[in-house]
Amino acid sequence: MSESILDAFKKDQTATKERDFSKKVKVGIIGTGWIAEAHVKAYQKCPDVEIVALADLIPGKAEAFCERYGVGDNITFFPSHKELIDSGMCDAVSVCTYNATHAECTIYALNHGVSVLLEKPMCVTLDEAVEICRADKASDAVLSIGFQPRFDENMKMLKRIVQSGELGKIYYIQTGGGRRRGIPTPFGTSFIEKETAGIGALGDIGCYSLDMVLNSIGYPKPLTVTGYKSDFFGKSPDFPHHDKFGVDDFAAGFIRLEGDIILDFRIAWAMNLDTPGDTIIMGTKASVRVPSTECWNGSIGGPLVIYKEIAGEQVETIVPEKENEADCFDIKIRSFIDAVKEGGAAPVPSSEILYNQAIIDGISRSAELGREIEIEIPEI
Ligand SMILES: NC(=O)c1ccc[n+]([C@@H]2O[C@H](COP(=O)([O-])OP(=O)(O)OC[C@H]3O[C@@H](n4cnc5c(N)ncnc54)[C@H](O)[C@@H]3O)[C@@H](O)[C@H]2O)c1
Repeated sequence: MSESILDAFKKDQTATKERDFSKKVKVGIIGTGWIAEAHVKAYQKCPDVEIVALADLIPGKAEAFCERYGVGDNITFFPSHKELIDSGMCDAVSVCTYNATHAECTIYALNHGVSVLLEKPMCVTLDEAVEICRADKASDAVLSIGFQPRFDENMKMLKRIVQSGELGKIYYIQTGGGRRRGIPTPFGTSFIEKETAGIGALGDIGCYSLDMVLNSIGYPKPLTVTGYKSDFFGKSPDFPHHDKFGVDDFAAGFIRLEGDIILDFRIAWAMNLDTPGDTIIMGTKASVRVPSTECWNGSIGGPLVIYKEIAGEQVETIVPEKENEADCFDIKIRSFIDAVKEGGAAPVPSSEILYNQAIIDGISRSAELGREIEIEIPEI
């Protein structure tokens, strides 16, 4: 790949854009748990953002959070997303609640003209995803879904490789990954309880893995799925919170995508294995391998490798790993604020993540039914 192409690519970066910082965006944070801290820190790096409000269902939690992270002196606190939105104080909100309340908080904000940066996964069920997309379509506000790996230079390169056509027709994809032991209970059990999380590894890190490949190939529609999920590690008496564990710790799916593409997927919070395999995208002219990471962290475990035949020789091309010029989480926040200010397109649109969520929902339902199912996505 020539240097000029790489340079042109660099110029695209959100981190180097010129901005009018005199126009301020008033932001509220809904849900002041673990990930809210990362949102606050990233917003604090934006001179044109003023955090004005915090909301949490747990009395006193938002106030304690404000003090712990030095959010600001003029913050108004609310007991839930509704009061915060109804106050009319915010142009935009980060929805940092557990998965089960993503949909209600997001739809309420969009219906009131407030832009939303919604943490991943978009929601729990396909029905919720459809309602979110409908609210997004009907609203003038911006909705972006919080997939920070989208801004990783290696992920962008993967998409560029696929979109270049060098691989030919894509026909088979394998993706997934996870951790040998890594059921998340950072500050409590909201990731593993059915009522708060709704889905386990499948949604938590599975959504990233699916986004990596689906975004690269242009998000074709999913058609059918055979799904599997299990909870052997979460329910094991060796796991300290086994009595609260109500979701999956491993999931797999075999998905047929429009365009005659097969997607073979597996994801784990815990397994007796180092990795369930690298990500591979196979094409008629070439294939690409993305080495897996120890813990799905939104990047790559080594350089991408392209396999192809040239003049009868089987050759491999190693794509040098790229450094990010800014933290991906910071770019996710910055690009959202830019879209809010400019009324531009969402950096990660709900219309794409709808298909991601349809696969997650399909795997879950197929696993429960014990058979292959058709994925039916209603008109938005
Ligand atoms: N992008 C990332 O890297 C990343 C990392 C971790 C978590 N996440 C995602 O962020 C979300 C939150 O995770 P977390 O670990 O911060 O969860 P958490 O359980 O620590 O915090 C969630 C908070 O939301 C509050 N809440 C729930 N519903 C609410 C409502 N209607 N109004 C106001 N507050 C409400 C809860 O009381 C809780 O304090 C999850 O969906 C998770 O998948 C993303």
